[in-house]
Amino acid sequence: MAHVRSLFFEGVASESETRAQQAKRLGRPSSLIWNITNRCNLLCSHCYMAADGHVKPDQLSDEQAYEMVDRMEEAGVPVVFLSGGEPMMRPNFWEILKRINKAGVQPTISTNCTFVTPKAAQRLAENGVRFIATSIYGPEYYHDALTQVPGTYQKVVKAIKNLRAAGVKVAVKTALTRETYEFIYDIVTLAKELDCSLLYICDLITSGRSAGEENMRVSVDQWRRLCDFVVDDMLDPASSLEYDIGAIPSTIPYIAEKLVARGVDVSKGLKRFQTFSACPVGQGHMTINSEGGVMPCQFAQDWTVGNIHDISFDEATSRLYELDAADSSGQCAPEACDYSRICRGCRVKAWQATGNAFIEDTTCILDTNGERTLPVTAREEAVAAGHVAPCAVSGC
Ligand SMILES: C[S@@+](CC[C@H](N)C(=O)[O-])C[C@H]1O[C@@H](n2cnc3c(N)ncnc32)[C@H](O)[C@@H]1O
Ligand code: SF4
Ligand code: SF4
Repeated sequence: MAHVRSLFFEGVASESETRAQQAKRLGRPSSLIWNITNRCNLLCSHCYMAADGHVKPDQLSDEQAYEMVDRMEEAGVPVVFLSGGEPMMRPNFWEILKRINKAGVQPTISTNCTFVTPKAAQRLAENGVRFIATSIYGPEYYHDALTQVPGTYQKVVKAIKNLRAAGVKVAVKTALTRETYEFIYDIVTLAKELDCSLLYICDLITSGRSAGEENMRVSVDQWRRLCDFVVDDMLDPASSLEYDIGAIPSTIPYIAEKLVARGVDVSKGLKRFQTFSACPVGQGHMTINSEGGVMPCQFAQDWTVGNIHDISFDEATSRLYELDAADSSGQCAPEACDYSRICRGCRVKAWQATGNAFIEDTTCILDTNGERTLPVTAREEAVAAGHVAPCAVSGC
């Protein structure tokens, strides 16, 4: 998870990046995704949550949800992403949102947009929502087949227009698979035509309804071609689209190397890497599931460090930061890869493959035996220069 344009240049995510860095320096959660429900009105074939019409029996009650908002405020959480399932299906969604906004935490909603009518778009804006993230997987026939509910493509396109009319910025998200790869460049064009600010492209995580579908992942060459396109687009003065790439952190050093080869100064991005690795696990990134489980990453709902019922927000935050102390192993170990600390490899894929989050990421798009050309500053030097809070350093 890294906002590529804001990382190396200025982009729409620059402000939230700065807030996240400040929060990390203070030892606070740097970002928080809260799955307020597992329920969903769609049945996307790839859904890692396997969300459907059911509510989890131990879902946080309304009172517990409001208490969570108070605790987020006390903990100094800078931004919360309300997600799901479909967050807007939770009956007290609007009350949760109102309280988050009142608490001074920046709310962002991750929604399939089927409930975003013109009135709802206006109401979201009035409740402090500046950004909505919504999903598009391809043309109408494909999107509706994947979500298994006819009419959803038309709804999402209309909703994006409603949101833009209400002054809310929109991020389009897509999960990259062998099938959606065919449409990815059309999705870029559509996002620009609909005046969206950001495109989030996430590598397929094979869990939930896509468990066992490793054959649906795109190849290394396809990922490289897509990254080359992202580099070209970022260097095109006519484009301002922000890109966020999820669950495949090796794309970030790959893109940095390509920018260097094009004569771009990447020192801004390298400095950011002294605070955050491309994989957000152990970097203050927190996900709370609908039952209160505290997770290092939303893609592994069964990897928790405790339940927010039982531990304080501070304790949950420090347990997540403690994960940063472990080095990755195998081809991602510091001895094997100079980018070990800035990339870390995808820790969730390692967890899902073996139950050990710190083994190598076998989906790396770099040449594993190739030369690493970026001048990466060691953590110790970064601490000496005051860029990293001591609590964020290995072994502290
Ligand atoms: C779980 S949904 C929740 C928010 C909302 N219901 C939606 O679909 O936008 C959040 C995002 O996760 C993505 N996603 C779901 N399953 C995935 C998987 N197996 N791999 C990668 N991304 C996935 C979806 O495409 C969606 O963009
Ligand atoms: S990806 Fe989102 S919209 Fe699709 S089933 Fe999962 S939670 Fe629902
Ligand atoms: S080997 Fe691992 S740490 Fe190095 S670039 Fe690849 S995924 Fe990242």
